[in-house]
Amino acid sequence: MSATRSLRLASRPTGRVRPENFEIREEPLPEPGDGEFRVKLEYVSLDPAMRGWLSAARSYVPPVEIGEVMRAFSCGTVEASNNPDFPVGQAVAGRFGVRHHAISDGTGVLKVDTNLAPLPRWVGGLGMPGWTAYFGLLEVGRPKEGETVVVSAASGAVGSLVGQIAKLKGCRVVGIAGGPRKCAYVTDELGFDACVDYKTGSLADDLRTACPDGIDVYFENVGGEILDIVLDQMNDFGRIPFCGMISAMNATEPQPGPYNFRKILTSRLTVRGFIVFDFADRIPEALDALGRWHGEGRLKMREDIREGGLEAFADTLNELYSGGNNGKLVLAL
Ligand SMILES: NC(=O)c1ccc[n+]([C@@H]2O[C@H](COP(=O)([O-])OP(=O)(O)OC[C@H]3O[C@@H](n4cnc5c(N)ncnc54)[C@H](OP(=O)(O)O)[C@@H]3O)[C@@H](O)[C@H]2O)c1
Repeated sequence: MSATRSLRLASRPTGRVRPENFEIREEPLPEPGDGEFRVKLEYVSLDPAMRGWLSAARSYVPPVEIGEVMRAFSCGTVEASNNPDFPVGQAVAGRFGVRHHAISDGTGVLKVDTNLAPLPRWVGGLGMPGWTAYFGLLEVGRPKEGETVVVSAASGAVGSLVGQIAKLKGCRVVGIAGGPRKCAYVTDELGFDACVDYKTGSLADDLRTACPDGIDVYFENVGGEILDIVLDQMNDFGRIPFCGMISAMNATEPQPGPYNFRKILTSRLTVRGFIVFDFADRIPEALDALGRWHGEGRLKMREDIREGGLEAFADTLNELYSGGNNGKLVLAL
């Protein structure tokens, strides 16, 4: 084989991404230089943040530029190597992008053991979303035994782990998710104490019933109206790890702030935004804990693996913003 393919940004999207915002380019297969290796990529992680990376607005990372390979966490196997630390056959995960092959010198690349967990899980529960749940909950949320923890997007990659880790720490855990099937998964499979379906009934009333002692920690994944309703039920000195705002990800107009902002003052809440890479130097700690709990069968992880390759990237990514995914969304190459 002498050629490979990559997905590159062709134009900046307005609202949801469209296939025509990307170009699939055929390129010569790159050869590794001194100290480098070539990875044949098998799975690409689809993350809500990708929509943000396509925006020219100032953020925590520079935007993907027009013509650049789409940024992504992906995983695969080393197939050619001039680096003894990454021999042929080694499974790896890293920020390789949406492409079939990548060259690396190993910087920031994780060697993974597919005997411990299947390859796609290393960009899911044992990868970036898992580290986000671990640090966001334990370092930012700081839950104490007996407290009530609420998490939105509870059946998803990050939320599913937040709730399970909070259970391991002795908390009462309540999820918020869209639809009865996702809520049943959250309680019956993941072991949360309750799950509220925000798409039917009254979220405020159902949440109050599920959290009779109020809410001490709210792990925020979605923003919008759900944030306002939860704010209203926060206990004094509660903590809100502000992880994501998926409800506003495709917005084309400025979004209104929470109308319940005053509650942050009156209940003396701590609201702290964080990005998982604020904890980059502690990733081995997260890997150790997540791997141990997973190995002991105390953390369940589920991947939603989609076929279709590079051509399916845009439409599959959009599933995240309509709740079409069931677990960590991954694109098979
Ligand atoms: N700060 C960081 O470093 C960091 C790192 C990773 C992820 N994140 C954030 O964490 C959040 C979850 O990411 P993930 O990868 O775990 O995705 P995910 O939960 O696996 O998938 C996204 C889910 O969000 C829910 N959702 C979509 N639109 C919504 C809306 N308008 N209102 C309410 N819920 C909505 C859907 O679940 P339902 O069907 O239940 O609605 C959907 O399945 C995102 O906000 C993401 O940006 C942050």
